[in-house]
Amino acid sequence: MTASTSASAPIRRVLVVGAGVMGIGIAKSFADHGFDTDLLSRRAGSLAPIKGVRVVGDLPPEAPELVIESVPEEMEPKRALFHRLEAACPATTLIASNTSSLDLGRLFAGMKHRGRFLGAHYFQPADVIPLVEIVSSGSTDPAALERTADAMRRAGKDPIVLSRPINGFLVNRLQHAILHESYYLISRGIVTVEDVDNVAKTMLGPRMCITGLIQQKDISGLAVHALAQREIVPTLAPPGAANADVQAMIAAGNLGLGTGKGFYDWTGCDAKAVREQSSGRLNALLAFLKQTMAGDRPGTRPKGRDIRTKKG
Ligand SMILES: NC(=O)c1ccc[n+]([C@@H]2O[C@H](COP(=O)([O-])OP(=O)(O)OC[C@H]3O[C@@H](n4cnc5c(N)ncnc54)[C@H](O)[C@@H]3O)[C@@H](O)[C@H]2O)c1
Repeated sequence: MTASTSASAPIRRVLVVGAGVMGIGIAKSFADHGFDTDLLSRRAGSLAPIKGVRVVGDLPPEAPELVIESVPEEMEPKRALFHRLEAACPATTLIASNTSSLDLGRLFAGMKHRGRFLGAHYFQPADVIPLVEIVSSGSTDPAALERTADAMRRAGKDPIVLSRPINGFLVNRLQHAILHESYYLISRGIVTVEDVDNVAKTMLGPRMCITGLIQQKDISGLAVHALAQREIVPTLAPPGAANADVQAMIAAGNLGLGTGKGFYDWTGCDAKAVREQSSGRLNALLAFLKQTMAGDRPGTRPKGRDIRTKKG
């Protein structure tokens, strides 16, 4: 492949590898914002056209400045692809993996230029959700993180950068913390699955959209919070093991909407209609929030503080 620009120029040319649920949305998000976008697919001949995206069956002749790998979640096929990309692309090409759970250090071990490899974790639907987690493997060049974040911002995304690798990154750690506690309470017969979802839909979710998780605590006042934290935290679900009821349910083949049963019984429901309804509502909510949250009133925007007593 031939290179078109230097290592420091803003990224204009992107290659997405893997035309699955995520890859198509990722390619769309770049193309919709004017990036020169290739999507490498094994079914290039049969894929429905995507506006602004060139679907290719092999690596394109002109080198991308950024590759986003989005092939299935398996270590060895991903590593084989990285070796191939590394051999084909100039050293200035940044190579990001959309892995949700694989260890970035192991994923990129043995690559020649480890500084240019990073995580870029999208959320479904990738062309709609603005958040992307940009994650260092521990060996990623900080400039590569910033250059990728800049490209994401110009692609309409709202990236956060994790300068150290951590299992689950930020979003899945937060999700699993709250789900782990929810499953614990369900397993003990204290609440139902509907109770948890009601709390999420009517209270936590709407409030988090406006003031996040932490800013809300400042607004409510922290004296009560300190007391509640001391009383409640020692009683939370013990860490250390995945919830046994949930693991058993999944082992029995109840995988959710797709199989008709999971936490809910979906018998008689139209799976396609369920998915369409939920993504339609999400789109409408995100559009509403974008408009409502644009431009804070003067005197309403605080700055985050570093509250650590021990740093490092
Ligand atoms: N599905 C999600 O909600 C989600 C969210 C965030 C991250 N991820 C991550 O994104 C990645 C992809 O997930 P997905 O859900 O889109 O999977 P998917 O199975 O829908 O798509 C993967 C695609 O890659 C293709 N592929 C496989 N090997 C290839 C290769 N060598 N070259 C080109 N194409 C190849 C497959 O044919 C398939 O079309 C995974 O690492 C996953 O963990 C998924």
